[in-house]
Amino acid sequence: MKVLAVTSEFFPFAKTGGLADVTGALPKALSNLGVSTTTLIPGYTTALERLAGLLVPVAEMTLLSEPVMLRRARTGAGEILVLDAPSLFHRAGGPYSDENGQDFGDNWKRFAVLSLAGAEIARGALPGGRPDVVHVHDWQAALTPVYMRHRGCSVPTVLTIHNLAFQGQFDASLLPFLDLPASHYRTELMEYYGGISYLKGGLVHADAITTVSPTYAREILTARFGMGMEGVLRTRRNDLLGIVNGVDEEVWDPTTDPYLPYNYGATNPRQKEKNKKILLQRLGLDTDPGPLFGVVSRLTWQKGMDLLAAAADDFLSKGGKLVICGRGDRAIEQQLEALAHAHPGRMSVYVGYEEHLAHLIHGSADAIIQPSRFEPCGLTQLYALRYGSVPIVSRTGGLSETVIDANVAALSARVATGFQFHPVTVDALRHALSRALHAYHDGNHWARLRGQAMKARFSWDRSAREYASLYGRLSGVTIGQST
Ligand code: ADP
Ligand code: GLC
Repeated sequence: MKVLAVTSEFFPFAKTGGLADVTGALPKALSNLGVSTTTLIPGYTTALERLAGLLVPVAEMTLLSEPVMLRRARTGAGEILVLDAPSLFHRAGGPYSDENGQDFGDNWKRFAVLSLAGAEIARGALPGGRPDVVHVHDWQAALTPVYMRHRGCSVPTVLTIHNLAFQGQFDASLLPFLDLPASHYRTELMEYYGGISYLKGGLVHADAITTVSPTYAREILTARFGMGMEGVLRTRRNDLLGIVNGVDEEVWDPTTDPYLPYNYGATNPRQKEKNKKILLQRLGLDTDPGPLFGVVSRLTWQKGMDLLAAAADDFLSKGGKLVICGRGDRAIEQQLEALAHAHPGRMSVYVGYEEHLAHLIHGSADAIIQPSRFEPCGLTQLYALRYGSVPIVSRTGGLSETVIDANVAALSARVATGFQFHPVTVDALRHALSRALHAYHDGNHWARLRGQAMKARFSWDRSAREYASLYGRLSGVTIGQST
């Protein structure tokens, strides 16, 4: 079975969040099941640099008047096709925005060209023939099924929603520049509140829609979580499936993690204390014993980081220490920086994206806090479990089904793995932090909780099987075979 994946992020070549982790890990797990994935990604400057020497040109095309070159590379994460379009992707900044965080004004074109390249490959533009299934991720790739249908390609398609908050909304006057008929501006197709939405186009045209946890799959059918897409999603509810994300155990394993000064596993979790000391020293924090809680996250409203800025005072005053690695909304970054300023030696905020620090925090902290207002799946809490950093999470989306709250029943059944709170308010978060602090000071209790967290397994094997069986149902191809 051959799958073409289309995505704007792919670990380790282009990442702003969990999307990259998923698209980077899933092909490896699928290949064990006899599914081979080729992943099409944009030729960002950083991706081209990292793949330099591995890339081989395979085809030239002109897409929406842009000359592009497809280059192929074989990597540990499967075969990659890089869409080299210098005028669209060779620039400073991140995948979606410039160095000042401003979205690129031509994102409509950048990701339409990516999607169109996906559709052309699906139609058989490259030697090696057509894929059996096309799997696209988020709005940036969501036009692929639209182009495929418009150009008469019937290869089955799967669209995965990683985050419904990002919908690719643009002006309807762009349709002719997208090489799509003006008639696509219709409620049943791409029209969305007076404009067009790439995501909606994908939701309407894909054969199957998945999202990254069963809970989020249910939540997005409601007005509260549907972000305006609940109507179209309800019409597709029979084709909507929640498949929980997993952990890439090659990348996130405390027994081998090269970013950790001291590796450890479930049998010697106390080694973490040594990492903790190194981290505290590195960040200039007090090294007295006591709980260190951590955050590795986008610092945004979705992630509830404004709630944390308002709730953490109590925890810090009671002897806790807090380390944050993240970036996002400037106002929230400043709120957190102000809190750190008020608690010298007890709290550190690193504003930026730093893979090394992210691993070190997981490998040092006693707990990881993720107070999200909504969370399609969340990977941070899965890494936290594996690293024995007890997760403290809001009860929403994937967080609610991957962490088992340390309530009396779960504790006595020895299945608790962390702390959940609800509703997602400052008071409820403050209460959760204080429950965790209390548990921390009962050494045996904490050790048991940490041990149970480390035993929780969210590997990709099971979820990859669910994707493979979906691909099989849609294409009629038996796994391990190809047309
Ligand atoms: P989302 O995709 O919504 O941001 P996830 O929990 O699914 O949330 O995935 C976040 C991913 O991004 C994780 O791999 C996490 O380690 C990483 N990450 C988030 N912020 C940072 C940061 N500032 N530095 C390094 N890695 C980060
Ligand atoms: C999104 C979601 C996150 C999810 C990730 C990968 O960015 O916000 O919850 O884990 O995608 O699927």
